[in-house]
Parts: sequence; C-alpha cells; structure tokens
Amino acid sequence: MNLPRLLSLGLSCAMILSTACSKQPTASTTTANQAAAPAKIKLGFLVKQPEEPWFQDEWKGAEKAAAQYGFDLVKQGVQDGEKVMGMIDNLAVAGAQGFVICTPDVRLGPALMARAKQRGLKVVTVDDQFISDGKFMLEVPYLGMSASRIGAQQGAALAAEMKRRGWSAEETAVCAITFEELDTARERTDGSIAALKAAGISADRIFKAAQKTTDIPGSFDAANVLLTQHPEVKRWLILGMNDSAVLGAVRAVESRGFTADTAAGIGINGTDCLDELRKAKATPFFGSMRVSAIGEGFATAEMLYKWIKDGTPPALDTRTEGTLMTRENLEAVLKKEATGG
Ligand code: GLA
Repeated sequence: MNLPRLLSLGLSCAMILSTACSKQPTASTTTANQAAAPAKIKLGFLVKQPEEPWFQDEWKGAEKAAAQYGFDLVKQGVQDGEKVMGMIDNLAVAGAQGFVICTPDVRLGPALMARAKQRGLKVVTVDDQFISDGKFMLEVPYLGMSASRIGAQQGAALAAEMKRRGWSAEETAVCAITFEELDTARERTDGSIAALKAAGISADRIFKAAQKTTDIPGSFDAANVLLTQHPEVKRWLILGMNDSAVLGAVRAVESRGFTADTAAGIGINGTDCLDELRKAKATPFFGSMRVSAIGEGFATAEMLYKWIKDGTPPALDTRTEGTLMTRENLEAVLKKEATGG
C-alpha cells in the first residue's frame, strides 16, 4: 500500500473512532472532559423587594462580579418565607453552591440557615441582618449600611436645611416615618432623630408615624394620619429609613399644599429618588443619603464566590457609608461612584 492510501485509511479509522467516542463516552473521556472544563460556580442572589431600584442595583453589582469572575448568577425575588425556602431547594437542585440574601423577614434566619446547611449552601446576608431569639446572628456574614451613622447624617442635614431656610422652631415639625420592627430601619431613624435633637430641635416637635408596609403607599398612609393630627404645622422636615419612606410622605404633604419651599425631606439609599431629583421643578424631596447598592451587590457576591472557590471566609460584619445627594450634586455623586471615587 502506498503512503497516501495508508494516510487516508488511518484518517478514516481515526474519524470512525472519534465519532464512536463522541457517541458513547467512556469513563476515561468523561473525566478528561470534566478536567478540561470544570463546572462553573453558581450563586443565587435573593432579595425581598425586587421592584425597588435599590435591589435592582444590587443585582447589577452582582452581575458585574459574575462577569469578572466567571460564575453563574441566579437572581430571584423572595417576598415571603415560603418563597425563600422553595428557592433554597431550587438552587440546590440547580447545582448552586451558595446565595446572597436580603431576607423578607429577619426572623427567618434560623430556619433559613438550617435549610441552607442541609442543602450544603453557603449564605451571605446583605442589608437586613438575621435575628435569632431577639439577637443578631453574628456568625452569619453580613454586609449593610452603617445605619446609625447614616441616619445621623440625614438628621444633621435636615437641621442644617431648616437653619439655612430660616424656619422658626414654632412653625416647624419633623415627620419621622418609622418601621421599628426592622433593626436597620430603627437604627437609621433613631440616629436621625438623635441628630435633630442634638441640633436643638425639641423632642415635642418630632412626630413618629409608623409605616405598615415598607413602600410608598405605606409611608403615604402613615404620613396622612400624622398630617391630619397636626394641621397647625407650617413647615415640615421629613425623614425615614429609605427613599420610599420619604417619597410617600412627600406625596402626602404635597397633597395638602406643601411645596419645596415649605417642606424638606431627605431619604436614604439614593437609588429610588433619581427621577424625583431630576424633575424640572423641585419637590419637597430635598435629597438622599446615597449609598452604592451596586457596590454592595458586587462585594457580597464577590465574598461568596471567593469563599466557595478558595475557602476564604468572608468578614462577618462589613458596613457601608453614605453621601448626601441633592439636585445640585446628583450627577457629580453618581459619576464619582461609577468611576470608583
Ligand atoms: C433595607 C431597606 C432597603 C435598603 C437597604 C439598605 O433592606 O428595605 O430599602 O435601604 O435596607 O441596606
């Protein structure tokens, strides 16, 4: 047989063999393939209120981490305990190794951790810290706002606005929208009220209005009750645990004729108020303590990824800081954040 014939025979044999191999992989080829392309790490990112821009930004941050490190990300809204438990099972079945969560109820912590352990999933918490028997579950990694400090900055900024506008103590009162069953919320509003008092606002001019739900309708309703009780107030300062708490109260004061000249509210998050602050005409929503939700989403997803990939345990308690963002500095604050400043 001449050389070209030999070569072509050899080639067809190899082709037959490789076709056979690809149709019926042997144990050794399967192992070799796996070694060449190890299974991608898969992580979940579960949030209690997926409709809030804050949480959508956290997802954007987690997506950035997924693209940078090359892991798969499963994003899911978990509005109640049943959804959380179901999602833990789904993640385990889908081959995920862990998840980041902002839980819909902090008291789910112990049950949630038990289920995650049973399913072999690692857990990092973001925003809302788990509670067990009335105490924080300090053993579960957590990243969230420096709640008291950011609240204090909010209160100090409101007091400064009152002074700058020359509002008198007699005509001015504070509408504090509260949600005290959630620790991070209570710490923020307590910090804010303490700063207002420290700035000289008397305790009997500070009125709390508890929101039943942590959304705009919840704070709108809470503020309306308060406004009905206090028709004598001529100038309102408004605070709350996040932007939607303050936005609801702003809508309520507006419906009673208050404007940017007679009411001033400062939120927290700086994510859910961008359209509001960009409106052509100023509203009583004066500003917000901007915290980078994209940064928080990135950092928690990165922590979890490194924990799974290299066994590096995440820090147990990481806190983020805020910056006062108003109509004046909004674009500059966002630009600085986007460029890592
Ligand atoms: C809570 C609030 C969110 C946001 C986060 C920030 O979860 O509900 O709006 O403020 O805290 O940590």
